Amino acid sequence: MSSKVFSLIAIAGVSAVLLASCGEKETKPLSYHTDIKPILDQYCVECHKEGGKGTEKSGLLLDSYEATLRGTKFGPVVVAGQSVNSTLYRLVSGKADPSLRMPHNSDPLPEETVNMIRDWIDQGAKE
Ligand code: HEC
Repeated sequence: MSSKVFSLIAIAGVSAVLLASCGEKETKPLSYHTDIKPILDQYCVECHKEGGKGTEKSGLLLDSYEATLRGTKFGPVVVAGQSVNSTLYRLVSGKADPSLRMPHNSDPLPEETVNMIRDWIDQGAKE
């Protein structure tokens, strides 16, 4: 085998490994308790707790796994496996009307945090 062909094969091999490891990072299994609760506690619970403004208005509590999946008085805001159909993801990602963006009255969440919420929902919103 000529050394040129060999190095082409080697380059292809290295790229395949790099691609595979990028893919892995995205599909790291996420869970409510390890990955999502800290985000909700930091950005959402001040309004979405018993007696909070967000809970009073929409019925949505975000202080436990059960409550988060139960949703608002109108229904669920997380559709396991379908971030695009999940109101919770649509609001934090700014895909809905900006006046409805969550958290209310403050800066949008960092992009990686929003992506983590998306991946968690798409992986089935595991506890
Ligand atoms: C400053 C208070 C405040 C914070 C912080 C806040 N919310 Fe809200 N949230 C509200 C209020 C008030 C409503 C009721 C609907 C409205 O007025 O837009 C609401 C409603 C919602 C709804 C239901 C919307 C609907 O149309 O059914 C979702 C989902 C939601 N919030 C998610 C979140 C998430 C996720 C966070 C954290 C990233 C968050 N909220 C942070 C105040 C807040």
